[in-house]
Amino acid sequence: MENYIVCNCKQVSYTDIERALVNHNKMEDVLEVFKDVQQITHCSTGCGGCHDKVLDIISSIMMG
Ligand code: FES
Repeated sequence: MENYIVCNCKQVSYTDIERALVNHNKMEDVLEVFKDVQQITHCSTGCGGCHDKVLDIISSIMMG
């Protein structure tokens, strides 16, 4: 998977999100995981325009 910036406001890349998920243990609830990823990477804490993109990425990583 090539790396790219997902959140322009906070300069958070695909790899940053992937790394934030590596040690995540409650991988059932996408919205809970989203909140944690947000805290770790600060993605989607600016304009919020990347919200859906971040959610999509989290879901696809969670589904393997
Ligand atoms: S692009 Fe992510 S908060 Fe603005």
